[in-house]
Amino acid sequence: MKKIGMLTGGGDCPGLNAVIRAVVKKSRQYNWEVIGVKNGWNGLITGEMEILTDDLVSGILPKGGTIIGTSRTNPFNKYEDVQKTLDNINKFGLEALVVIGGDDTLSVARRFYEKGINIVGVPKTIDNDLSGTDYTFGFDTAVSIATEAIDRLHTTAESHHRVIVVEVMGRHAGWIATIAGIAGGADEILIPEVPFDMNEICKNLKSRYNRGKKFSIVCVAEGAYPKQENSSETTNIGKNLEEALLTQTDEKDAFGHVRLGGVGNYLANEIKKRMNVDTRVTVLGHVQRGGTPTAHDRVLATRFGIAAVECIKNQDFGKMVALQGNKIVPIPLNEAVSELKTVDMKLYDIAKVFFG
Ligand code: F6P
Repeated sequence: MKKIGMLTGGGDCPGLNAVIRAVVKKSRQYNWEVIGVKNGWNGLITGEMEILTDDLVSGILPKGGTIIGTSRTNPFNKYEDVQKTLDNINKFGLEALVVIGGDDTLSVARRFYEKGINIVGVPKTIDNDLSGTDYTFGFDTAVSIATEAIDRLHTTAESHHRVIVVEVMGRHAGWIATIAGIAGGADEILIPEVPFDMNEICKNLKSRYNRGKKFSIVCVAEGAYPKQENSSETTNIGKNLEEALLTQTDEKDAFGHVRLGGVGNYLANEIKKRMNVDTRVTVLGHVQRGGTPTAHDRVLATRFGIAAVECIKNQDFGKMVALQGNKIVPIPLNEAVSELKTVDMKLYDIAKVFFG
């Protein structure tokens, strides 16, 4: 019997269990055993694994998170961890690996593929910023949660005549902010791709006030930051904000990422100061990543899982399964991790029509 390993790496997201279930069920057709590697790449370093039986994957389709655990471990940070990973792949007889992850996890997968390991990647991230695929699963769920939050914030903002800033996830790409902002009718959407200008934001919000709309919703991606201008005031704001954004704690993860957060508070304070209006902030945070996946994400994740097993069957390694149009196609891992997929400016232009 062929043995294949499977791991989930990076931030969890709704739909991971749907992939796991699909891989196990499809592998059963070929009589392959699937070994769940615990906690991302860490499980391959430590040898922590478990056989994924039918029983274990039964009932997990609607469940958020990942039953095999995840981590942001990077084995390439230490030479001995690379060696341990290779040794364990060999020791446990894993003839192929299904690696479910975002940019960081799949970059590690690509490096192990270059070392001769049979790898197939599955794209996962609520940020939707992986290249080569139209969508990643988890994104639709995050957008639904953020849209519902914006809808709810509208009624309370209107009742109290407030500006409410809602901070959503999105480290380098503002997909959640853009799509949820359009869907929820946000009055300003701020994303990392377009550094913001406080004067412009206040001008838009004031024009709304002058039209009798005494409340506004500003939707901001956690990675958004202000435009650096030559004026000393803006430059200082930029500097301070960068500190607020980037140094919430001094800790960095194994891939060198700082923990973001703070832009929502910064905006609310600035808007209050400049416009003399009451402001509030809602940081959605990990609520966007938890809980049950939408039907769309369950189906996409299931299709990815089936396609990953088909790639193994066809010995088509070094690939990531991707959604292109309505088809799932294998694309080179290299292509998927070479650059981040940022927000399409044509889409952002649509969002801008509704600003202010
Ligand atoms: O990569 C997905 C993501 O949810 C980002 O949007 C966010 O910046 C980050 O993960 C948060 O990571 P953590 O779970 O380590 O707090």
